[in-house]
Amino acid sequence: MFISFEGTEGVGKTTLIHKIRDYFLEQSKQVVLTREPGGTPLAEQIRSVLLTVNHEERMSNDTELLLMYAARAQHLQQVIMPALENSSIVLCDRFCDSSFAYQCAGRGLSREKLALLNQNFVLKMPDLTFWLDAPTELGMQRARARGALDRFEQEKAAFFEKVRAGFAELHQLEPNRVKRIDATQSPEQVFNDAIERISSWKAEHKC
Ligand code: TYD
Repeated sequence: MFISFEGTEGVGKTTLIHKIRDYFLEQSKQVVLTREPGGTPLAEQIRSVLLTVNHEERMSNDTELLLMYAARAQHLQQVIMPALENSSIVLCDRFCDSSFAYQCAGRGLSREKLALLNQNFVLKMPDLTFWLDAPTELGMQRARARGALDRFEQEKAAFFEKVRAGFAELHQLEPNRVKRIDATQSPEQVFNDAIERISSWKAEHKC
């Protein structure tokens, strides 16, 4: 099973992923917890290029998209595909839906460009995606409280509104895969909602 976790900054993805990992580990399942951009040493180097604020040279939107997919190609080949072939449960903090929400809805890149990359480089999409949804200001307050802001976190509120609308669009387009969870609830309630959806998915797929 391949599950991804999505949402704007500071919505509590990390807390949920750790709880779900513990839940599966208690059932003696093999779990691989990973993240994007990143997840392998090389992809983590690309992550650092993507997140570092550079006042001397602005990264173009196309470069940003291609670096996301360079990291993703490496991550898929080195970590995700081998783990799935080994029957591990893969929990991934962000995946392709972040590219739709941030690079297309947020930055304004065309969906055709993204579709081309997905068709050619992403041979496996998640079985389930949790979209943790909360007002963007709430998440930004949490991100600011965590310390120095990265290149994405420095964007203005209007950018995050567009990103949130991008996730909402995906949820509408693919309701069977992309499940919305109200991230303003307590961490326990968010976890319970996610477990309920995982159980329904398993019942539906008889596993
Ligand atoms: P992440 O570490 O999950 O940020 P946070 O913990 O603050 O939510 O992700 C790093 C940033 O990368 C995040 O701002 C979203 C961005 N991103 C994209 O723009 N496109 C992508 O395809 C991915 C995977 C991430």
